Amino acid sequence: MALGQFITLEGGEGSGKSTQARLLEQRLRDNGLEVTMTREPGGSLFGEHLRNVLLDSKTPEHSALSEALLFYAARADHLENKIRPALAAGRWVVCDRFSDSTRAYQGYAGALQLEAIDTMDQLVVAPTFPDLTVIIDIDPAIGMARADQRRAERDGSNTTRRDRFEGRDRTFHDALRQGFLTIAANNPGRCVVIDGSRDADSIGAQIWQVVATRLLQEAGT
Ligand code: TYD
Repeated sequence: MALGQFITLEGGEGSGKSTQARLLEQRLRDNGLEVTMTREPGGSLFGEHLRNVLLDSKTPEHSALSEALLFYAARADHLENKIRPALAAGRWVVCDRFSDSTRAYQGYAGALQLEAIDTMDQLVVAPTFPDLTVIIDIDPAIGMARADQRRAERDGSNTTRRDRFEGRDRTFHDALRQGFLTIAANNPGRCVVIDGSRDADSIGAQIWQVVATRLLQEAGT
């Protein structure tokens, strides 16, 4: 059976990635493809368990390296138990965040050396690197406001309950944005940057165009 294609969606807070992941899933299904939708941190039983630890604002302070190792522990399990079996069964995998998030959050915007992330990528991810990574670029001021609004709608009027990453300051979110753009510039064959300031349908149409040109034709679908 032909291998499925592995697509990751990346971006800062409030970039609209999760909405786009769902739109993409639906379009792929409409084209007769089998799709596995997943996310990081999480995606597998062990991964979701670690997600709770990683995002909980009550988690004690720990080093950037400890944190990155936890993300990669979750990722190793996710790859082994969900992503690789799905791809081997010919399914397409759409993943909301993957190792570019570690590179951007813990590397470019955090305190971890990029070489350490490269090493973990080789150990854990290789050879299952994404076929396509869609990076949704958004001004952090707009993204943070959107994320606050989404949280308010979900949790009632409490807009202050940000998770450990959402709670960081503007400098962090600016560095994050630049980090994602640098990743895209360094990996033009794999990454595409999409303007996230437009409406969800326009962004969805643009992502679909990229998927159709880069992957569907290649896969002979
Ligand atoms: P989530 O609620 O899934 O946020 P979003 O809707 O923005 O995707 O929380 C995931 C958080 O974890 C997000 O703030 C980014 C962060 N993260 C890292 O810092 N490193 C990583 O490797 C991953 C996968 C996520």
